[in-house]
Amino acid sequence: MSKFLFLSSCCRAILQSNPVFGHYQYIGKKFTSKSIFQARQYVQVSSSAVVSESTKKPSTASSQVRSVPLRESSLEETRQSWREFLQSIVNSPEGVGYLAGASLRVGFFTMMSLLALRIVDDMNQLRNSRKRSISPELGRLIVNMLKECLVACRQDYDNIRRGYYKLPAFPTRRWSSILPSTFNYLLDLRMVQSRRLGNRYKELPQQLDGDYPDYYKRNFHYQTDGYLSDYSAKLYEYQVEVLFNGVADTMRRQALVPLFEYVQTHSIKQMKLLHVACGTGGILSDLVENYPQLRIVNLDLSPYYLREARKRHDSYRNAYLRFVCGKAEKLDFGDNSFDVLLNIYLFHELPPDIREKAATEFFRVLKPGGMLIFVDSIQENDRSDLNRLLQMFPQLYHEPYYPSYIKMDLKKLFESVGFQYSNRYISWVTKVCVFYKPFQKVSHDVGQT
Ligand SMILES: C[S@@+](CC[C@H](N)C(=O)[O-])C[C@H]1O[C@@H](n2cnc3c(N)ncnc32)[C@H](O)[C@@H]1O
Repeated sequence: MSKFLFLSSCCRAILQSNPVFGHYQYIGKKFTSKSIFQARQYVQVSSSAVVSESTKKPSTASSQVRSVPLRESSLEETRQSWREFLQSIVNSPEGVGYLAGASLRVGFFTMMSLLALRIVDDMNQLRNSRKRSISPELGRLIVNMLKECLVACRQDYDNIRRGYYKLPAFPTRRWSSILPSTFNYLLDLRMVQSRRLGNRYKELPQQLDGDYPDYYKRNFHYQTDGYLSDYSAKLYEYQVEVLFNGVADTMRRQALVPLFEYVQTHSIKQMKLLHVACGTGGILSDLVENYPQLRIVNLDLSPYYLREARKRHDSYRNAYLRFVCGKAEKLDFGDNSFDVLLNIYLFHELPPDIREKAATEFFRVLKPGGMLIFVDSIQENDRSDLNRLLQMFPQLYHEPYYPSYIKMDLKKLFESVGFQYSNRYISWVTKVCVFYKPFQKVSHDVGQT
């Protein structure tokens, strides 16, 4: 009987944590006092898998900021910590479910990215008429990427285990849509590659309903229609998952860690969160499943992406969700209107002057004591072993503002508009930086995040 219960719990966790069966809604436990206690302990004694650091405490009582020295662990320590982690996984049904689901997910999207490489390579050969060769470098790259995915999933699962957030349900990638999405993705890939080969990045729909800034009117990532069509909106999240071998959502979820800390000292019913550049939702389903009572305003410049985001989250009818079309650099909200502002993967797509304007607006609309959770690509020297990858990225995907983004001092930028830096976490190629709007104006020392 107990074996049966164990197996059935495993199955439930698998259903919840993989994209193919992800249409099952999570019937989750609320945070128990035990899990909150565990999470608090984790805040104080951070796991070696989480790269996190903090500086000064912000001037709010809300922030119990951890102090985690960054240090190299020895090989033996690393092995030991992985052994313990694997033991903890296999001893719990939720862990087995997570492992199986994550493996399916990473395996599936890695296969897709290899297939995409193959198609792209075929097109290159037609153009260059050279022989196909499978380079050992590519093999090493794949192995390294899989290792990074493993570490990102471990961070994710550690966070779940410690009660920061629930086991995700992945409702945006329903089994019923995985086949058409795959088909559409593969069909579209040739068009993307042809644009890439010709360096054509101004192929937008003829009729645009709206007035968009010049920096925005382009095919970011060489994607079809840029951000400006329903077609592009449908493909977007799938494309991102292929790019990140299935761990895009996993990396985004790191943003829920500082949010968890914030809600420990704030009433969730009173809180308002502004989700800037929400795209087609991204982290939104994780937000709603963890905080169904949180009022969330989702803003994006693309009406098409917003429409898709609304459609995908239609099932959360009882949640307090609003969708608003607008610019990050000119927010149509009053001063001091939000408690938390969440911004994911936007700044690397903005020119430097627009980044400054957006940072100023973020500060203006947050209440004193409010928190900014800024999530974007890691920058140069955040992980020196990945510097080359960061340099290659804008060459392969149309990302004209990325080279200036990876060199900019984010801490300096946000502090210059009044924020106080608190903490950061790194998950593979994503970094989460946490800032507070202080109650009183403060002076800052300069130093890079
Ligand atoms: C790389 S996507 C990230 C989307 C989403 N946050 C995610 O996690 O996938 C960038 C998003 O920013 C939006 N965007 C770009 N410039 C913007 C601006 N100035 N104001 C608001 N949204 C903007 C785009 O429409 C797009 O949805």
